[in-house]
Amino acid sequence: MPLVINDEYPKKLFREDGKRLDGRDKTELRPIKMEVGVVKNADGSAYLEWGNNKIFAAVYGPRDVHPHHLARPDKGILRVFYRMTTFSVFERKRPAPGRREKEISMIISDCLEPVLFLELYPGTSFEVFIEVIDADGGTRCASTTVAALALADAGVPMKSLVTSVACGKIDGELVVDLSGIEDKAGEADLPCAMTWFNNELSLLQFDGDMTLEEIDSSLDLATEALKKIYDMQVTALKKKYLDIQEGTAQPESNENGGEE
Ligand code: CDP
Repeated sequence: MPLVINDEYPKKLFREDGKRLDGRDKTELRPIKMEVGVVKNADGSAYLEWGNNKIFAAVYGPRDVHPHHLARPDKGILRVFYRMTTFSVFERKRPAPGRREKEISMIISDCLEPVLFLELYPGTSFEVFIEVIDADGGTRCASTTVAALALADAGVPMKSLVTSVACGKIDGELVVDLSGIEDKAGEADLPCAMTWFNNELSLLQFDGDMTLEEIDSSLDLATEALKKIYDMQVTALKKKYLDIQEGTAQPESNENGGEE
């Protein structure tokens, strides 16, 4: 059951015992599960559960660009399509992609592009389709993280993975990984993403009120959290190959429905 009904938010975002409403400490991440190779028809794919967020990412490419006029003669293009299903949020979301989805698609594309060697693929495109099945705050960060994993699963040459998380401020305290209710009822939200080949931020957004010192401290907290999530991404990628090696991977069906 959602915590917000008719836009009435809880008065306090910390419990009497000092924990957040979902029982977490200030620097604790929500439970995260990741898996790669989940969409058979894609060149690469990944699935992520991050708290109540459930997100698929599927990658296709390099392939012809449609519409053709978007193709560039000097480099490949990256196209990201972030979408929330109509049933992913408490109030029905219109099925047509809205301004928010277009903005988030653009942000994710900007986050991922620095790690790709697009100059090696002139005239082609890489397409990343992201479907948010269930949403509960931080979907742009979770989507960036799962999209990077899907690109790696597709074997697209990358300088490194990209990892993303949001920090923020609730009831005057700095916290890591805002849930949906904390995002809405808190004072500030600071989503960021790290490209690991140069340890630089490829995303930094800010919404709310914080002092410069608080922003610095939030980025320190975010860096610690990002390292933990990065380790999970690497583990998920390795697991696919360990399963193949150990013969425990799920056999893929061929087009006639039999096993390959
Ligand atoms: O998901 P993210 O925090 O990156 O983006 P947001 O625009 O700050 O949205 C925060 C949360 O609001 C989402 O994760 C959803 O849980 C919720 N939301 C919603 O309930 N209905 C929408 N149409 C859009 C977002």
